[in-house]
Amino acid sequence: MAKLLITGGAGFIGSHTCVLLLEAGHQLVVFDDFRNSSPEALKRVEELSGRRLELVAGDLRDPGSLGRVFGSGPYASGGGIDAVIHFAGLKAVGESVAQPLLYWDVNVGGTRLLLEAMAAAGCRTLVFSSSATLYGYPAQVPIPETAPIQPINPYGHSKAAAEQLLADLAASEPGWRIARLRYFNPVGAHPSGRLGEDPQGLPNNLFPFLTQVAVGRRSELQVFGSDWPTPDGTGVRDYIHVMDLAEGHRAALELLLAEEPQLLTLNLGSGQGHSVLELVKAFELASAKAVPYRLVGRRPGDAAITVADPSLALERLGWRTQRSLADICRDGWAWQAANPQGYRG
Ligand code: UFG
Repeated sequence: MAKLLITGGAGFIGSHTCVLLLEAGHQLVVFDDFRNSSPEALKRVEELSGRRLELVAGDLRDPGSLGRVFGSGPYASGGGIDAVIHFAGLKAVGESVAQPLLYWDVNVGGTRLLLEAMAAAGCRTLVFSSSATLYGYPAQVPIPETAPIQPINPYGHSKAAAEQLLADLAASEPGWRIARLRYFNPVGAHPSGRLGEDPQGLPNNLFPFLTQVAVGRRSELQVFGSDWPTPDGTGVRDYIHVMDLAEGHRAALELLLAEEPQLLTLNLGSGQGHSVLELVKAFELASAKAVPYRLVGRRPGDAAITVADPSLALERLGWRTQRSLADICRDGWAWQAANPQGYRG
């Protein structure tokens, strides 16, 4: 069993992954600044797994905080970190357009500082949260990992830069074990209904918006574009259940720890595309709630279709998604119905 640092471990994907890692017997140090997450999520992670984790509250850009994790300074956690899963970062496309400096600082600068702290401590194993946003308007669908990297907003540029930094580092010095995991559209929730996505303010993404309409927090969903070149005219995405995604992280981590040092780059998606209206219909069925929606104009920067080619993840990790769109909707609804105001309720 390994001692793992989980940055952003209180966030949506981080918290679900923490449950699986604790259940697998690993020892966790969670590092989080709670900017977009809640300490309540970590309490529930402990409750679900029946295990304790260690928390270091801080910002990656504060060297003192990272020092505490890696074993220096008066409040050191004891060091001895075997590997890091780096979820911490900012991910709102619109906010990144308005605040590019912030996105480069947190997503690129924060990653650089983490890598410096890891190198100084002799820890060279990292699973990195990357994104299908790197592919921009994809030239081909399904999208393989070899597709061109052509981000179209500052968020995407910051993820591309962090990925490049990891490649440069791996090339500079043998011994690094790095996985760059490119997520498609993470949705759903823990099947217990105790953990889920809890965005602050108006959700940017379709799924949390949909669940908030169904629970009565918002009056209607706006469907961005009904004239896309897709079967029903609405955008098509590759929705992946957050528990499938969490299992992908565990598999990637275990491969890195078992094999020779390497740089692994994998899409994590289902390989299936679903339109906005298909998702709305599936959600209505799972929740037995009507979801009022209105067709409006396209959202700037959206692609018509993004779907993963996930075959490399199957080949390298033996991983593929196990959960359907119906599972996603059932679990997402169980979370939202039991926690209408998220963790704040
Ligand atoms: N959509 C709506 N109404 C909404 C929100 C979204 O119709 O209120 C539509 C979008 O136009 C798109 C689909 O729902 O067709 C999915 O949109 P999301 O905002 O949920 O997700 P995106 O595909 O735009 O982006 C997400 C993450 C990015 C990540 C990307 C990877 O937000 O961080 O997936 O593909 F990079």
